[in-house]
Amino acid sequence: MKYCTELFCHLAGMLLAGLLASCAAHATGSETPVQRYLYQKDGVQIEITAPRADVMRVRVGREHLPEDSSWAVPPNARAPKGTLGVAESGSASVIDSGTLVVRVDHNSLAVTVMDRNGRDLLAGAAGQELRFDGAGFRLRLAMPLDAHYFGLGDKTGPLDRRDGSFTLWNTDHFAYGPASDPLYKSIPFFLGANEKGEAFGFFLDNHWRTNFDFGKAERDTLVVSAEGGPVDYYVMAGPTPRDVVMQYAALTGAPPLAPLWALGFQQSHWSYMSQTEVEGIADRLRADRIPADVLYTDIDYQDRNRPFTINTKAFPDFAGMVAKLRAQGLHLVMITDLHVAKAPDQGYAPYDSGSAADIFVKNRDGSVFSGPVWPGPAVFPDFSRAVARQWWGEQYRDFVKMGVGGFWNDMNEPSVFKVRSKTMPLNVVHRIEEPGFVTRNASHAEMHNVYGMLNSQATYEGLLRLAPDQRPFVLTRASYAGGQRYAATWTGDNLSRWDHLKLSVSMLVNMGLSGFAYIGDDIGGFAGEHPSPELLTRWIEIGAFNPIFRDHYSYGKPAQEVWVDGVEQEAIRRHYIEERYRLMPYIYGLAEESSRSGLPMMRPVFLEYPQVLGDSDDFGGTQDQFMLGPDLLVAPSPTPESQARYDIKLPGEGWFDYWTGRRVEGSKLAETPSLARLPVYVRPGAIIPKQPLVQSTSEPPQGPLTLAVYPGADCRGSLYLDDGVSFGYARGNYLRQGFSCQQSGAELIVSIAARQGSYRPWWSQLNLEVHGMNGKEIAEFKGKRLATRFDKESGSLIIELPDMAGAASVKIRL
Ligand code: GLC
Repeated sequence: MKYCTELFCHLAGMLLAGLLASCAAHATGSETPVQRYLYQKDGVQIEITAPRADVMRVRVGREHLPEDSSWAVPPNARAPKGTLGVAESGSASVIDSGTLVVRVDHNSLAVTVMDRNGRDLLAGAAGQELRFDGAGFRLRLAMPLDAHYFGLGDKTGPLDRRDGSFTLWNTDHFAYGPASDPLYKSIPFFLGANEKGEAFGFFLDNHWRTNFDFGKAERDTLVVSAEGGPVDYYVMAGPTPRDVVMQYAALTGAPPLAPLWALGFQQSHWSYMSQTEVEGIADRLRADRIPADVLYTDIDYQDRNRPFTINTKAFPDFAGMVAKLRAQGLHLVMITDLHVAKAPDQGYAPYDSGSAADIFVKNRDGSVFSGPVWPGPAVFPDFSRAVARQWWGEQYRDFVKMGVGGFWNDMNEPSVFKVRSKTMPLNVVHRIEEPGFVTRNASHAEMHNVYGMLNSQATYEGLLRLAPDQRPFVLTRASYAGGQRYAATWTGDNLSRWDHLKLSVSMLVNMGLSGFAYIGDDIGGFAGEHPSPELLTRWIEIGAFNPIFRDHYSYGKPAQEVWVDGVEQEAIRRHYIEERYRLMPYIYGLAEESSRSGLPMMRPVFLEYPQVLGDSDDFGGTQDQFMLGPDLLVAPSPTPESQARYDIKLPGEGWFDYWTGRRVEGSKLAETPSLARLPVYVRPGAIIPKQPLVQSTSEPPQGPLTLAVYPGADCRGSLYLDDGVSFGYARGNYLRQGFSCQQSGAELIVSIAARQGSYRPWWSQLNLEVHGMNGKEIAEFKGKRLATRFDKESGSLIIELPDMAGAASVKIRL
């Protein structure tokens, strides 16, 4: 229903008493279908549009509306679509997208967003709602008692943002604490959900310094404030948390499919100081049979910390090193910080060519701004100019030619040393020179929060220009909403402490809800004391189930690679890394799903089971848990440093223990921690594709593809595969196959759907591994009995089949 029809008014009238009078009064046909609703009073202008029926955009301006431009939401995603029904009464306008209803009060100018059942999603707090405050504004919103809030990127604190206050101002926060704020990114998006699991989304597209106060300053009032910039926000209808995440992705974009190798194990250190050291790490990984895909070189591979140089004394044959690593199945990711050394007349090409092209950020007097960072005095490309991004992308040419796999954009808040603000002065001048924007100068106060994202955009797009059929891998530290279109990210300079390990779960989960699928933290902790063997082991175990899995640590610490602390610890760590590689078909499938839907790979339990939101403050005991995709639930201890027993609550019954393969009784389990075991459970109804162990994703697996079937309701799974590196999938060179199972009475049918795409599988045999069996079952295929094996320990029936591209089903008589 696109606008206010008689039927809607009748239904709504029963539900929405007050506004409804206005609607009913106009049910005779005076509603006007429009694309854009505009209301003006006392110099204030309010505009309502619907980029989708389930997303409303609200813009408010003084005298005139703000410029309709955005770094986060591309023009086609924010353009009004469809029509809005508008009904006017004496005191309000009611604007209806078909899914959402907005009420604009003509007296107070309060804007209320409701769903079609009349439930307020976003309503002004009592008293004044929107107040302009100098160049900025404050928006005061009601916070229902049962509402919980998530998102805002990887902020510290508990999973739920309620009662917290958060500033969005990209900050290089070395060795932050569990309550430090602000950190490296600004994602002004949150997901609100009530105890029934009904959710909505809110995104303020404003990259000035902003603050989100969820009832800390004013109890039960959510205050969103900004120091400048537009009142330009979007409300997403949900109604499920999953819907909200997908609606947000429809606005700001889904993360493009990463190269497969980026999902392998990554080893990094500030810094491996020489070619010999890097090659030594690679050799040791292979000698110790630690599966791995990526090594990093941090700032010390450079000549005097100058970006886009190589210290040829320490790395005499960089290209040879890259090739050698490739032959060992390893990709190199190099740090390339944005601060260009201010080194005139020294033959330092990035400074010379950047100066000639005049692309550096300026002081107010027109001179180039410089500030100290790793190379000493440095200058900063002005990434809000398309020409500067183009120039930046060019800098990668030689490295790409060498076969370097990916690039790491660090310090891009931007970080500036020796000043209290840790960044550029607010009055330095950026230039917006960009299709879709009015060309003008903008202060750093305006551009700060978006600067890091534009740096990663420049890298991503530059790499695409240099190698158009290769999926770029960019890791960025700073970002803004929409930055998931260009880069993976991590949580910055954490500490080797148990509380940081615990913190990482809520940080990563909230980051995932905020649009970024490719997320990780420094496994083992970046700074601080050397992690204890137990801490590093536990961190590797949990990291094995995070989307990005990177062990990285600072200078001045003893080695933190997998093999430190002796063979016993190494064996446990290896086991978890190996399991990740066995799970790679499932993990890669999640990445591909994310590239289409925006759903995060690592998820809070409530994303799959919104009912847990009603259970209690810690969401039915799931606060410290997370899910990897829809099927795996990881349940670390809420007090990871302690050996005390803890309760694990599962969202329902019939789950399986991932490690034993056996069904667990009930939904409340008592776990006695043991270092070698990280509790992981499988959803009843999951079908998980697994592969034989490999040492890197470059190595074709030898042996069968296994489909691990865990019978239960809604039984399904899928497989996605392609060459892992190119865009061939967009030309049809992929493999996609769906699976399902159905139990009725004494029969379980496992169905395989017909395969799509032209990519050739690496397997010729398919093993069904059906869990929850007793060994007495009989399997049949096309009416003929199949040979089976029963694995007593895991209670699974193993059925070996030839690979099947067409639709097929196997009947198991129980
Ligand atoms: C920053 C980064 C860290 C890196 C270091 C040196 O602190 O966050 O990961 O190792 O700089 O480049």
